[in-house]
Amino acid sequence: MEFAGFPFRAGQVGPWRRLGGRGHAPATSPSRRSGPGVTECGPRAGAAYNSPVNATLPTAQSLRAALAGLLDGLPPKQATQAVDRLIASYRGETPTDAPILRDRSDVVAYAAYRMPATFEAVRSALDALVEAAPDWTPATHTDVGGGTGAASWAVAGAWEGPATTVLDWAEPALALGRELARASGSPGLRDARWERARIGAALELAQADLVTVSYVLKELTAAARTELVDAVAAAGQAVVIVEPGTPDGYARIIEARDRLIAAGLRIAAPCPHSAACPIEPGADWCHFSARVSRSSLHRQVKGGSLSHEDEKFSYVVATRFPAAPAPARITRRPQIRKGQVLLELCTREEGLARTTVTKRHGEQYRAARNVAWGDPWPPDIP
Ligand SMILES: C[S@@+](CC[C@H](N)C(=O)[O-])C[C@H]1O[C@@H](n2cnc3c(N)ncnc32)[C@H](O)[C@@H]1O
Repeated sequence: MEFAGFPFRAGQVGPWRRLGGRGHAPATSPSRRSGPGVTECGPRAGAAYNSPVNATLPTAQSLRAALAGLLDGLPPKQATQAVDRLIASYRGETPTDAPILRDRSDVVAYAAYRMPATFEAVRSALDALVEAAPDWTPATHTDVGGGTGAASWAVAGAWEGPATTVLDWAEPALALGRELARASGSPGLRDARWERARIGAALELAQADLVTVSYVLKELTAAARTELVDAVAAAGQAVVIVEPGTPDGYARIIEARDRLIAAGLRIAAPCPHSAACPIEPGADWCHFSARVSRSSLHRQVKGGSLSHEDEKFSYVVATRFPAAPAPARITRRPQIRKGQVLLELCTREEGLARTTVTKRHGEQYRAARNVAWGDPWPPDIP
């Protein structure tokens, strides 16, 4: 079953005390990431987050540690019931008139299963923003529908010190988010403000350098989606919206993208341009993949022994300031053959395109053997 990107079946919950596995192995190079715990998508995944330069920047590992600390002691039966109830709520009518995350068990269930994945998806989208605007640093950040704070963790990992405000209508989510943030060791996160707010016509958003909206549009009515996207377009210098990497998630992203452009923003990523998306509606959907380490609980619950899973997501990043979108972006996992690499691209000039990079292309061929789904193309070759 899957709800709002929450792909777990009822009754599949193991002992919660065992949550909090090894977390991420640090990526040592911004250019390569193929192992467990390393984001596959985005131009410099792993680079800023695990930098030895600043040990206070939050990482996936510190997020897991914070989650493990909070979950220790929650009775397994209570946790099982919370997940079952949460799944049932999402199976029912959504959007709802009241928060689905009603109490601590609900938000613990959400944070334990989904937060590492939504964190990785947002982190990949932020990577693409940094790639397009490397000299830009947000001083203020608003995370709308921020829940337990996954996007805020990703923002605090990408830039040191933005003043973050998390808005959500679910008080238990805000409370858990606040606790996790305090356990993060990151000054930016620790000082974040957690405020109750309902998305809708009455939502007032203060101006902010960066606004994130992560895995929220799916939970809104069409009217509320429109109001929210217009509000974030008016409030943010940069707007990052992330949704599950499904056909309907992509459709919501495209709808948001159109509104952001109509409001005067330009697309910084993943698209190489702000013109119409070249994908024929219904024929395909633009999405990417981020690698998420599985805790021991995840492995128990979902079966199998894989130490990671891949979170599929769609996203758009738009800015009011000048940014430099990639000339083209890799839209599928590259196919490496003997002596050649096949790339599927979204390009600025030709829309969707396929290219074959062979040994004859020298440096570019060597680079192609290392690129990942979601990366810009061509790479900067010194
Ligand atoms: C799927 S969760 C995503 C949480 C977080 N952004 C993340 O990426 O993990 C959706 C969040 O949107 C919030 N939400 C849904 N509808 C809302 C509304 N009308 N007003 C405020 N928050 C809302 C929920 O309470 C929940 O925290």
